[in-house]
Amino acid sequence: MSRIDWERLHSVALIAMKKAYAPYSKFPVGVAALVDNGRIISGCNVENASYGLSLCAECGLVSDLIASGGGRLIAISCVDGQGNQLAPCGRCRQLLFEHGGPTALLMTDDGPQTMATMLPWAFGPDDLDRNER
Ligand code: THU
Repeated sequence: MSRIDWERLHSVALIAMKKAYAPYSKFPVGVAALVDNGRIISGCNVENASYGLSLCAECGLVSDLIASGGGRLIAISCVDGQGNQLAPCGRCRQLLFEHGGPTALLMTDDGPQTMATMLPWAFGPDDLDRNER
């Protein structure tokens, strides 16, 4: 895998953020990721009049990942309405961990961080395997 083009991921995340449907929070979010086969995928948040049913941008990203052929997440950039890096919510860190594992990189204000750092002591697919022994 060649060098990660973080600038491109940031600009794709911005494009996604501009498509967000966030009339209730007025907090649009966009996310883009590099997949291990070189694809770049993206997502935006989609809210609902029943606030708790709102879909985070990362939900859309994972849906795009699977619908476009699957694969593993290598690098992820998530932005808010100002284009600042956004640290994904707890539930979404779990979603990203499922599809990228501990070594996937997430851009933060402190530079790229591994998912192992962003979600320490994560529960993941390996824990289910362990239970089957
Ligand atoms: N949101 C995301 O899309 N991703 C996150 O990781 C944090 C929060 C959305 C959900 C809601 O539409 C809005 O941001 C305000 O919480």
